[in-house]
Amino acid sequence: MMKCHLFICTNSPNKPNKCGSKNAELLRQKIKDTCKEKYSADVASEIRINSAGCLGQCERGIAAVMYPEGQWFYDLKYFALAAGATALSENEIAENKKTENVLLAAVDSMLKK
Ligand code: FES
Repeated sequence: MMKCHLFICTNSPNKPNKCGSKNAELLRQKIKDTCKEKYSADVASEIRINSAGCLGQCERGIAAVMYPEGQWFYDLKYFALAAGATALSENEIAENKKTENVLLAAVDSMLKK
């Protein structure tokens, strides 16, 4: 059985206000890649970081939910380079880190159960 199954809503990347338009897929990739780097292959095989369709929480997106506990995450912020920009601002980098840390800490605590 999976120890940790995280679903991040990546719905509708082309519709404003939907999670997909708020860099949710980038966030999912980042969490997935970090888990692969961070854990041994055995442990990583107990984790899934999947895309989800709309979780019915669009106004609070990016939304995510983690099983088996059914722990929800709302208002996750994740920034990507805007067109023409060469770097993220310090605030954006800090927000990205905060979001990554929230999800990675939750994965970690789930693995310890
Ligand atoms: S689009 Fe993400 S919860 Fe609806």
